[in-house]
Amino acid sequence: MGLSFWILGLVVGLFAAVLLVGAPYLPTLRSQAETAFDLLGLEEGQTLLELGCGDGKVLVLAAQRGYRAVGIELNPILFVVSRLRTFRYRENVRVIWGDFWRVPWPEADGVFVFLLDPFMPKLDGRMQAYKRPLASVAFKVLGKEPARQKNGVFLYKY
Ligand SMILES: C[S@@+](CC[C@H](N)C(=O)[O-])C[C@H]1O[C@@H](n2cnc3c(N)ncnc32)[C@H](O)[C@@H]1O
Repeated sequence: MGLSFWILGLVVGLFAAVLLVGAPYLPTLRSQAETAFDLLGLEEGQTLLELGCGDGKVLVLAAQRGYRAVGIELNPILFVVSRLRTFRYRENVRVIWGDFWRVPWPEADGVFVFLLDPFMPKLDGRMQAYKRPLASVAFKVLGKEPARQKNGVFLYKY
């Protein structure tokens, strides 16, 4: 078996392994990121925390709005992509490589996620301690009424 087989296997394995602890990679639509920002109501200079920042697109959009942004990403390939993509905004954007269930969450004014149903109860527990507004793309927090919802994005107040 050639080197390319092992490289492909490694890449597939890295993307698949994330399923044990969170949602797989699926890029956020620009319109949903913009809706999430509107719902969170952050002001320039405030900080957005993105749990699972994927390819860094949301972090870039946040920086372009004048926010500070911190993303946490477990997949090392996406972490590197995110780092490269946000490089020109590095004064305001930070990307952390790690599992957001284990990494201490930095101080922020609002949280953005695009996860999956099975992880929402655990997220709810964490958010109750973190006490910041949460914008969730596509997935609701079971048993909790969203404060607002628009364009497939749910806003929760903690
Ligand atoms: C649905 S995607 C969202 C991608 C991102 N919003 C974007 O537009 O590129 C979910 C992301 O969360 C990451 N992820 C899932 N579980 C994670 C965990 N426990 N810690 C850090 N990242 C995680 C995945 O690797 C994936 O990139």
